Amino acid sequence: MPDITLTTLNKLKQNGEKFACLTAYDATFAHLESTAGVEVLLIGDSLGMVLQGHDSTLPVTVEEMAYHTASVKRGNRGALIMADLPFMSYATLEQAMANSARLMQAGAHILKLEGAGWLADITTTLTRNGIPVCVHMGLTPQTVNVLGGYKVQGRQQDQAEAMLQDAIALEAAGAAMLLLECVPSELANAITRAVSIPVIGIGAGSGTDGQVLVVHDMLGLSISGRLPRFVKNFMAGQADIASAITAYVSAVKAAEFPAAEHEF
Ligand code: KIV
Ligand code: NA
Repeated sequence: MPDITLTTLNKLKQNGEKFACLTAYDATFAHLESTAGVEVLLIGDSLGMVLQGHDSTLPVTVEEMAYHTASVKRGNRGALIMADLPFMSYATLEQAMANSARLMQAGAHILKLEGAGWLADITTTLTRNGIPVCVHMGLTPQTVNVLGGYKVQGRQQDQAEAMLQDAIALEAAGAAMLLLECVPSELANAITRAVSIPVIGIGAGSGTDGQVLVVHDMLGLSISGRLPRFVKNFMAGQADIASAITAYVSAVKAAEFPAAEHEF
């Protein structure tokens, strides 16, 4: 078991304290981030874009996720390790179970699945089998072709209400955590208050219990040269990467990041 567990994160939420999450894909960054106080290391399928150079996360395979998860596990010093189930690896319950087993055995402590209330059954089954689930809601990059682009989700009142009800239903189904990407801050705040499980945000304002960024983004590294609105470059003014990560952890814990300029 890692030093940081779901119990730790639940207590932080109860005490109104914020926690930090960053993506990590290799042992060196896992070591750097965990020793800098990052509570949750995410092996995100964003690795398809930032490591592999694809234009979406769809090409990423379970075996690639397992390889990076095992690398992160070796460098980790006490953080909770969360790994993404990649595109089409949980289309059926049977696939979800087999692929989840692969990532848990590679070193993950919790798995993240993109979707909404329809993931309730998979969430319950995985949890019963010893696999904690984080449901990634709002902008779900694996569904970019259905969504018609990387756009803020939940702006309309009916969408917002549905997302709130789904969040409540997913907690009831056994979800251990939620992650909200690119949703209006007001909706993220309402969801965070409505559930007792920790909620991590990215482009969801400062009201969520935790924050996450892609580590390349927060170090100012980008192939296109542009960074999304919700990203802050923490490398600016820092002498080294360790200091930038420490600055990120401090800013999240002090609720100084994200600021109004990073919100929707
Ligand atoms: O893949 C990823 O890095 C993610 C975060 C952006 C939340 O899912
Ligand atoms: Na992801």
